[in-house]
Amino acid sequence: MRAGGWRVGQGDDKLSATVNGRNGDHDETRGWENSMIGRKRRTGALATSLIVLAMVALTGCGSDGRPLTTLDPRGQASTDIHKLVVPVFIVAGIVFVFVNLGVLFVAIKFRRKDEDEFPEQVHGNTKLELGWTILPAVIMAGIAVGTIATLFNIANEPDDIAQDFEVTVVGQQWWWSFEYDLGRDGTIDFVTASEMVIPTGTPVKITTTSRDVIHSFWIPALNGKKDAAPGRNHPFWLNADAPGRYLGQCTEFCGLSHGYMRMLVEARDQGDFEAWVANQMKPAAIPAASDEAARRGLEVFTGACTSCHQVQGVNSNDCTPITSASQYDVAKNTCWVGAQPYAGAAQVSGYAPDLTHLMSRYLFVGALYDLRGPTTGELNRAELEGWIRNPDDYKPMLPEATGDNKYGRGMPKVPLTEDQIDDLVAYLSTLK
Ligand code: CUA
Repeated sequence: MRAGGWRVGQGDDKLSATVNGRNGDHDETRGWENSMIGRKRRTGALATSLIVLAMVALTGCGSDGRPLTTLDPRGQASTDIHKLVVPVFIVAGIVFVFVNLGVLFVAIKFRRKDEDEFPEQVHGNTKLELGWTILPAVIMAGIAVGTIATLFNIANEPDDIAQDFEVTVVGQQWWWSFEYDLGRDGTIDFVTASEMVIPTGTPVKITTTSRDVIHSFWIPALNGKKDAAPGRNHPFWLNADAPGRYLGQCTEFCGLSHGYMRMLVEARDQGDFEAWVANQMKPAAIPAASDEAARRGLEVFTGACTSCHQVQGVNSNDCTPITSASQYDVAKNTCWVGAQPYAGAAQVSGYAPDLTHLMSRYLFVGALYDLRGPTTGELNRAELEGWIRNPDDYKPMLPEATGDNKYGRGMPKVPLTEDQIDDLVAYLSTLK
């Protein structure tokens, strides 16, 4: 797999796997194969230790939120899944114990006792063979009934699904955006990134899709996995029984930073949720003239960031451009173009997080790092500045199109001075 990642799912890896498969003379290649197996095992052990280390390391970042576990379900779908997992695990455990006891028994009882002993040659045992065919078939059939019933349960949209809004969940290398459609009328009312907020207790309709390769949306405490595939809209839903912050992880290999592609769902009480929606609906305010650093930061933002990032009220689509803060008017949907030469509708790729209410979130960089302290709410200035200074230190990316990487992915390193970064952060911290 090339690091570029956007080729995932195009099938060329499958092809090379077949070409490399065993098709030669086994006897001649056995020594080579054995050494390869040894090497693979060592690589496997190394990979496992690296994964464990990475998991330990990552639990230190983005410290806010419930851990990634299916064993403590907090939603309807995850509870259904849990009710299936526990009995299947118990049955599998019993089978495991019996099979291993059987192997031990046979290995001890029938072991070779002296050098010259030649075992009795037998062929077939009808009773045994019928037994070990029928019993597993019955067990598997039982598991299949439970599994299919659970799958249908989860696929069925609950009757009490929220009628007043739904969310399109968009995966892209390597973060998630959440497009809220209030009124479920097909128009996007506001967009967030990394963190999705839902009301507690109400199932919410979501639709997963992708802008590039196949990702998979999974909040272990709340729902099962749902692929997010480009050009497809997969209907799904999720709910949370109790208020809380629930972490998730992209679970479909999607290139270089797949392992760093996280997200979070926050369940709030109805009143809190409505207040959050009302705030998200507002465009960002232009900083007051007295806040000189933030004003300079806004100029840096419109000069360096607005080709990719959107801030409603600054570079919203279909807005009326203004060049002076005195012209700012929410009702007229004005947008700030400052010293920028362009006018008219902003040209934003939208392929980067919407930052309108950045400071209403606690996590950033694909929900990997704390943007604000989980309890204090205080800005994590060091890491926000570090991220702007050199994004690649925080998440491996390929922002430049070079070689096989035809398109570039991720946040580029923008050449800003330290003063500009300070001003930019001053501006970003006004985006409440
Ligand atoms: Cu997105 Cu893996």
